[in-house]
Amino acid sequence: MYSYSQDSLFCEAVALDSIAKTIGTPCYVYSGQSILDAYRAYDEAFGDMPHTVCYAVKANSSLGVLALLAKAGAGFDIVSGGELFRVLQAGGDPKRIVFSGVGKTAEEVERALSAGIHSFNCESEDELTLIDGVAGKMGLTARFALRVNPDVNASTHPYISTGLRDHKFGIDIVEAEAVYERSRRFANLTAESVSCHIGSQILKIGPILEAAEKVLALIDRLRARGFQIGTIDLGGGLGIAYKPRERAPDIRVFIEKIRARLQSSGLAVMLEPGRSIVGPAGVLLTRVLYRKRSPKKEFVVVDAAMNDLIRPSLYQSHHDIIPLHRNGRGKITADVVGPVCETGDFLARDREIADVKAGDLLAVCAAGAYGFVQSSNYNSRLRAAEVLVEGDRWRVIRRRESMEDLVRGEVLN
Ligand code: LLP
Repeated sequence: MYSYSQDSLFCEAVALDSIAKTIGTPCYVYSGQSILDAYRAYDEAFGDMPHTVCYAVKANSSLGVLALLAKAGAGFDIVSGGELFRVLQAGGDPKRIVFSGVGKTAEEVERALSAGIHSFNCESEDELTLIDGVAGKMGLTARFALRVNPDVNASTHPYISTGLRDHKFGIDIVEAEAVYERSRRFANLTAESVSCHIGSQILKIGPILEAAEKVLALIDRLRARGFQIGTIDLGGGLGIAYKPRERAPDIRVFIEKIRARLQSSGLAVMLEPGRSIVGPAGVLLTRVLYRKRSPKKEFVVVDAAMNDLIRPSLYQSHHDIIPLHRNGRGKITADVVGPVCETGDFLARDREIADVKAGDLLAVCAAGAYGFVQSSNYNSRLRAAEVLVEGDRWRVIRRRESMEDLVRGEVLN
């Protein structure tokens, strides 16, 4: 959805510099078409097999993005009361919400039950006890899956790998059967599903399929014990291409494999993709403030920083950085850094980029997932604006913060 026309970078049919000049930088821009194409790739590849694609809200929770997906019929995977609130505000269908996460509070569970969400993915017996209690008080029955930890290595960055035995997530798959057995004592819970999620930014689908095999074997054993498990939830995790020669798994090919394996199982499939739906759809626009040289290095100082996009600092992740106007001046090798007072504040290191000068505009690519959502006010910087592009139209879906926003809620005396 991003391409150059006459040396200017476009998102769909909108020239990105027109957005930057109208609302300023830094700002996030998302292609509506790209988001919908990715969601539909998941949805359509299932064909007539029963399925729910629950978009993982944590990847990008702006109302404009959620509303787009809600309208397309998506379900939602939430991990907090805040995400529940957002999905409902955006018009999402509560009956298509699954509530994941390792630390749900009683208040969050109560809100979710009164909203009428589909089910909970539970990660401990304590959590089952809590949900049973809350449901009981409300006179309801809650559907649940245990999120099992299949002990499969997702081969991704250690901070976003979740499926190994020493991770805090899920219930060890070896113990899961006994936990389902013990869950029979909870009068207000129904075991409906088994879920797993082994990590994020997974570039080879083998480990996800391996985890699926282990979960299927568990479902067989549970069915033999009389549990009516009707759904398998395989989590999210499909990676995207951040680097020029990186190859992301094809969504349709991935789903085709799952469909072929599960067609005869009689199970409905649930998925929780986040990054692969919104990641490639977004860019972060930033303006060059200064060029400077140290004896050893060239620096390009831009107006976006680690508070706007923390992924490079936190996970050493690569985001391509390309100019909004190709100027034909050749390339330089530089660190692209922000104004935050930390050496760890960089968007790229030792990177070959266009030979830019102060005032030039740049796009930080593939920033639609875990970009704005992880931004902060560190250094009392105002959080960026967000824009949604649809065809030749664009609109602000989040205004840039103001100084008043910055101190909202603070008490002086
Ligand atoms: N389901 C569960 C239970 C999850 O924990 C996650 C992501 C997802 C689904 C969605 O995974 P995805 O399809 O987006 O890979 N901040 C990190 C990523 C953290 C992912 C956390 N969990 C980053 O910037 O790379």
